[in-house]
Formats: sequence, structure tokens, C-alpha cells
Amino acid sequence: MKGKILVTGGAGYIGSHTTVELQNAGYEVVIVDNLSNSNADVIDGIQKITGIRPAFEKVDCIDFAALKGVFDKYPGIKGIIHFAASKAVNESVHKPLLYYRNNIVSLLNLLELMPEYKVEGIVFSSSCTVYGQPSSEYLPVTETAPIQPALSPYGNTKQIDEEIIRDTIHSGAPFKSIVLRYFNPIGAHKTAEIGELPNGVPQNLVPFLTQAAIGIRKELSVFGDDYNTPDGSCIRDYINVVDLAKAHVISIDRILENKTDAKLEYFNLGTGNGVSVLGLIHAFEKTTGVKVPHKIVGRREGDIEQIWANPRYANEVLGWKAVESIEDTVQSAWNWQLKLRERGVM
Ligand code: UD1
Repeated sequence: MKGKILVTGGAGYIGSHTTVELQNAGYEVVIVDNLSNSNADVIDGIQKITGIRPAFEKVDCIDFAALKGVFDKYPGIKGIIHFAASKAVNESVHKPLLYYRNNIVSLLNLLELMPEYKVEGIVFSSSCTVYGQPSSEYLPVTETAPIQPALSPYGNTKQIDEEIIRDTIHSGAPFKSIVLRYFNPIGAHKTAEIGELPNGVPQNLVPFLTQAAIGIRKELSVFGDDYNTPDGSCIRDYINVVDLAKAHVISIDRILENKTDAKLEYFNLGTGNGVSVLGLIHAFEKTTGVKVPHKIVGRREGDIEQIWANPRYANEVLGWKAVESIEDTVQSAWNWQLKLRERGVM
């Protein structure tokens, strides 16, 4: 065993895939999750893949006493990967206080508890949203591209959290941090035992797309085809969730095995390829042979026209690279949707 890692939001989409990779790498995982956008069945899915049941506590990270109780119950937690957060951009516009409380208080609680329990590092789940719409000279985006004013309360919480981590590390806190800025994670584990399963109507592209393809939703709305891109739809860097999960294991190794002297580092996690919404629909249809009913509608407020990563820094410094093809990735998303149907979930 390599050590105990606390994964907040570990029953969620990226958290569950990361738990699998941590266990495969020999870490012992303790999950805390309030199940606000996930389901405890995910723990079974993780166990089916790895043969190991992670410890699970239904705890909300904004509850300081309950979170402290987790550190007492599982002594010797060496590192934290902090996923637990609310992430629906539109909802954040209507419920800003919910977002500020959830996404900021949970981080404050963790950072305050870390020294007392001698936790050596925290990997933080951030987003390319901190770059806003980069001007063309900054595309593809490196880690040194300017941070721009957030377009939503959700985006602002990620920026504020990054600043809180920066200030805490600069104050001489006795731990290290790695901030991972994700581009657009999609797909599911190749076993189809875990995947993305948002509660309610999906806000993100791929879960909506697969639900439309299987007939749960009438049709996918493509938000705008009049952008200044080759086919008029928005461009994103869609990264396979398992590739993304592996970057977390490398980051936690990097901290715990003292592979760097840096107390704080930032990495962009993307493939380096920009794909349009229509391009993704096309890749899905071509790979799976399944049609996606869709129609073009107006732009979604707050959407960025185009952004994709320059992943070179992560490739070189972390020795990590996204390796899964877009075809295998969309196929994995479809296999997961079929599995949900088989299980009668949706
Ligand atoms: C957004 C956030 C990102 C956050 C992520 C988490 C911004 C600018 N981006 O990513 O920071 O981490 O959510 O949820 O704040 N689309 C459709 N139809 C749909 C759904 C989406 O056409 O039904 C399009 C969108 O217009 C966009 C692309 O698909 O061009 C991807 O959308 P989505 O999956 O929601 O992710 P982002 O908006 O890129």
C-alpha cells in the first residue's frame, strides 16, 4: 500500500474514475461525498473494477465537524484530491451563494484541517474556465495565458479557490499543492461499470448526446452554429476521463514522493486537439453507427467560442499524456449509456 488518499467528490464522475486509478496504483482511498450529484451505487462500480471497496463516508465538505471526523476515523491520510464542488454554470448564475458556499467553504475546511492531520499535499480540480475566451495569440492555451474575469459564479469559485490555495501556500503552509486545469472530460471507464450520471437533465454535452441517442431526450440542442469557427459550432478539447484520472495519480505521486521542490504547480490537462460540437456528434455517429437526433438552436449565454489546450507542460513535466482516441472515448460513453439501460437506471 502506498498510502491513504482522501478523495472528496469520489462518487462523482471524475472522482470515481480517479479512485479506480489510485487503487490500481496501490493507494488506499477514502471517499467523502454528499451525493448531491451522484449515487452510492458508484462505490459498487468501483469495487467491480478494482476488486477493492473504497471507504465511503456520506459527508458534506462544508460541514467542518463532520469532515474533521473523517480525518479522525481514518488516521494517516497523506494526500487529498479535492473534486467535491457544484459545477453547473447556469445554475450558478441563479444560485450564486450556493456555489460560493459549497465551492469555497469546502476548500477552506480542507486547508484548515491539513496541517493538524499532517496531510502532505492537495491536488485541486480546477478548470480551463479560468482562462475565459483566450485571444487567438494564446490558443492553444498554455499555463501562462492570462486569467480573465470569470463569466459565471461557478467560474469565479474556481478562480477564488486557486487564489486561496496560492495565498495559503505562500503563507508557508506545511503542504504542497498541484492545481489541475481540466479541459472537457468525456467518456467512461472501458468496463462500463462507472461513467457520467448527472442527476436530472444533463447540462454537459456528452451525457445529453448519449441520452438523445438512446431516446431518453427528444433531441440534442446544438447551442449555436454562427460562431467564428470552421463549422460555426463551439470548439473544445475533449479529454478521456480515464486519461484525466491518471494525471491525478501522477500528481499525487509527485507530491508524496517529493519529485518536485515546487510547493505549488499548475497544469493544463487536455489533448491539444480542438473538436467542434458538430464534429463530436459526427465522430459519435461514425464510431457507434447510432444517429444523434439534433437541431441547431441559439447560442447558450456565457459559452466560450473556442478553447483547447497546449498540454506540453504536463506532457514534459508530469510525463503524462492523453492517449485515448476520440473514437474509443465516444464509444465508451455509448457503452456506458447502454449499460445504464440494461440495468434499468435510465
Ligand atoms: C462548462 C464550463 C467549464 C466547467 C464545465 C463543467 C465554462 C465556460 N465552461 O464547460 O468550466 O468545468 O462546464 O460542467 O464555464 N453544448 C450543446 N448542447 C448541449 C450541451 C452543450 O451544444 O446540450 C455545447 C456547448 O455550447 C459547448 C460544448 O457543447 O460548446 C460543451 O459544453 P459543456 O459540456 O456544457 O461544457 P463547457 O461549457 O465547455
